[in-house]
Amino acid sequence: MIFPNCPGALLHAHQDNAGIAGSSESYTVWMPLHDCPQGQGTLEIKEASHLFGLQTTEGYIKPETAPGGDWVGGRINAGDAVMFHSLTVHSSTLSTSDRLRFSVDCRFQSYDEAVSPLEIVFPNQAKGGRTWETTYADWKQDDWKYYWRNVPLRIKPLAGRNDRTGREGGQLRKTASLRKDGGTGCAGDSHAGAVRASQARNKKAGR
Ligand SMILES: [Fe+2]
Repeated sequence: MIFPNCPGALLHAHQDNAGIAGSSESYTVWMPLHDCPQGQGTLEIKEASHLFGLQTTEGYIKPETAPGGDWVGGRINAGDAVMFHSLTVHSSTLSTSDRLRFSVDCRFQSYDEAVSPLEIVFPNQAKGGRTWETTYADWKQDDWKYYWRNVPLRIKPLAGRNDRTGREGGQLRKTASLRKDGGTGCAGDSHAGAVRASQARNKKAGR
């Protein structure tokens, strides 16, 4: 969600993999929930930026120095979807209209690819935050609860994250979005927190 004329709430240029961790071979599908003309917080993409690996930054990526081609974007309508690689540098734009911008995004990867432990453990559950049990509390049936326990996940430690070496091949035989946090990735929300947490980890580790 992007509020009108609220630059402080923007999620500036970043790569989703900075927050998601695990394998870089994951993909985001971003969809506005209404027609979204220029000036209402559209999405901008840095062309071919996924080819340049994970960018090491202590904050958001500077748009003017981000690797890749041109920044591209524009009007996107309800029913459209933008799909991009987890290393693609992208950014929300400021809404100068008088309307909120609502969007949703889902992330997909093969379960052949490594998963960050952060994706299956809620970060604040030890402090009384959300847990899987509270997440599932109001679900009417049990079929899909803990579905990720039934796939052979390969957990990737954070220390060796974010490159393509060691990838174990495999076909994209099943995709599974492992995020259960609402998946709102581009507008100063839970994903922004994940990106900032990742940047803090990188800084602490000297990366
Ligand atoms: Fe994002």
